[in-house]
Amino acid sequence: MINKPIVAGNWKMFKTPQEGFSFVEECVNLLLKIKEVNVIFSPPFTALFHIESILKHTPLALAAQNVHYADKGAFTGEISTDMLSACGVEYVIIGHSERRHVFNEPNDWINKKVLTVLRAGLKPILCIGETLEQRKSNETQQVLKEQLVAGLAGVSENEMANVVIAYEPVWAIGTGEIASVAQVTEAHGDTRNIVEDLYNHNIARNIAILYGGSVKPENSEELIKCPGVDGFLIGGAALKVDSFTNIIKIVQDNYPKE
Ligand code: 13P
Repeated sequence: MINKPIVAGNWKMFKTPQEGFSFVEECVNLLLKIKEVNVIFSPPFTALFHIESILKHTPLALAAQNVHYADKGAFTGEISTDMLSACGVEYVIIGHSERRHVFNEPNDWINKKVLTVLRAGLKPILCIGETLEQRKSNETQQVLKEQLVAGLAGVSENEMANVVIAYEPVWAIGTGEIASVAQVTEAHGDTRNIVEDLYNHNIARNIAILYGGSVKPENSEELIKCPGVDGFLIGGAALKVDSFTNIIKIVQDNYPKE
C-alpha cells in the first residue's frame, strides 16, 4: 500500500493545446480540496508546455505518453527526456498497449525507455497486460512476468522507488469491458509477487500498481477497493471534466487507509 493513490488521465491523441488548457483549468478549480490523491494529466506532446504553466503552482503532475530512449540525435519525429523535463513533465507512460500492439514496440525498446527515463530523473509508468487470447489460454501470469522481467531489466533497487506499474488488460481498454474484481485482484497480486521475486518484499509492498481499462465513475469504487490497486490509469473517462474529477473524489474517499 502506498501513501497516496494515483489517478492518471491518459488523453491519447485527443485535445488541441487550447482544449487541453481549458480542460485542466476547469479540473484544477474542482480539485482544490483533493489532498489525498496524486493526480496526473497525460496530454499529447503538443499540449505539455501550455499545461505546465497551470500546473506548476499546484500539486498536480504532468506525464508524457511516450519518449525516445536516446538522449538526442537524428530521430525524426521523436522526443527526448530533456525536452519533456523542460516542459515540466514528471512521469512518462511507457509500453502502453497501443504502443506495443499498434506500433509494435518490442520489450527491449520499452526497457531502454524505462532506463533512460529513470536516469533523466523522471518516473516511468510501465504498462503491462495480456490480450484476450492470452487470457483465454491461461497465459496471463506468464505474460505479466515476461513484460516485467524485460521492462525492468537493469533497474536498480533504488530506482524502483520511482517506478509506477499500470496493469491494463488489453481486452478491457476502450471496450467498455471491465475486468472483474477477482481478475483485477489476482493480476495485481501476481504483479506484486513478480516484483518481490525480482527485488524484495519492501519494494513490492511500496510500489504503486494502477489498474487501467474502462474505468468510469460507476465502477471506480469497487475497483479502488480491490486489494493491491493503488489507483487508475484512465483513457476515455479522463477526457471529460465531470467523469475525471468524480473518479478522483471516489478514489480519495475509498482508497483503503493503512
Ligand atoms: P480506457 O479507460 O478508455 O479503457 O483506456 C484505458 C487506457 O488505455 C489508459 O491508458
